[in-house]
Amino acid sequence: MGVSAVSNKDTVKNHFEQEAHEFDELITNLIPYYRQMVESIVSTLPFEASADIDIIDLGCGTGTVSRAIKDVYPNAKITCLDIAENMLQMARLKLKDAPETVYLNEDFYNFNFDKKYDAVVSSLALHHLETTDDKLKFYKEIYAGIKEAGIFVNADNVLASNDVYQQKFMDQWKRFMRWNLSEEDVVNIWIPKYYEEDRPAPLMDNLDMLKEVGFKSVDVVWKYYNFATFMALK
Ligand SMILES: C[S@@+](CC[C@H](N)C(=O)[O-])C[C@H]1O[C@@H](n2cnc3c(N)ncnc32)[C@H](O)[C@@H]1O
Repeated sequence: MGVSAVSNKDTVKNHFEQEAHEFDELITNLIPYYRQMVESIVSTLPFEASADIDIIDLGCGTGTVSRAIKDVYPNAKITCLDIAENMLQMARLKLKDAPETVYLNEDFYNFNFDKKYDAVVSSLALHHLETTDDKLKFYKEIYAGIKEAGIFVNADNVLASNDVYQQKFMDQWKRFMRWNLSEEDVVNIWIPKYYEEDRPAPLMDNLDMLKEVGFKSVDVVWKYYNFATFMALK
C-alpha cells in the first residue's frame, strides 16, 4: 500500500504470535465489555440475514468478529487478514465450519485489496498503524476496497479530545482491568504494553479522516471511554 515501514511492527507481531492461545481469555479481562463491542459491529451491518455478502476482517486475530458475523450472516463469505500466523490458526479453528473462509497472512502496510467488499470490519487492530498519515492512507485503501453503498465498521482503541478526559478514560480503563487482573499486572504489564505498542488517534480525528477520504456518512454506534465502534457508509 505504500505507507512507511514502522519500527514497532515486529514487536506487535511477536506479541500476538506468542499470545494467540490465551488471547480469547485475556481479551475479556482487558477490554471493557468486549463481547458487547463485538456485537455492536455485527448489529451495525445493514444487510438482510440471508444476504450473500463479501466481508473482510482486518486484524481478525482469533476470528471472534468473523465468527459473530457468520452466526448472523450464514451466507457471508469472509476473508480473515492478520499479520500473526498463530492468530490465524486460532481463527481457522473458530471458523472450521465455514470452509469458504479465506485466510490472508498479510500486513496492513503491504496489503493491496484483492477485490471490493460489501463490508470491511476491524476490531482493536487499526490503532497499530503507527502515524496519522499511515491511518489516513489505510482509510483511503479501505474506502477504495468497498463496493458502492458498502460499509466500514471499526471497533477500536481511541483517544479523548483533550488531556483531562484522556486521563479520565485511562483511569476508567485501569479501574475495569483491576476488576479482573491484579494491580501488579495492570501497572507492570498491560499499561506499559499499551504505551509501547498502541498508537490510537482521537475518535474525532478518526471520524474526520473517514469523511476526508470520501465516506458520505459517519457515525459512532458504541462507546465506553477509550473504546469505540464507529462506522462509515460509502
Ligand atoms: C488486539 S488483536 C484484535 C483481534 C481481533 N480483531 C479481536 O477483536 O479479537 C489485534 C490484531 O491485529 C493484528 N495486527 C496488528 N498489526 C497488524 C498489521 N500491521 N497487519 C495485520 N494485522 C495486524 C495482530 O496480529 C492481532 O491479531
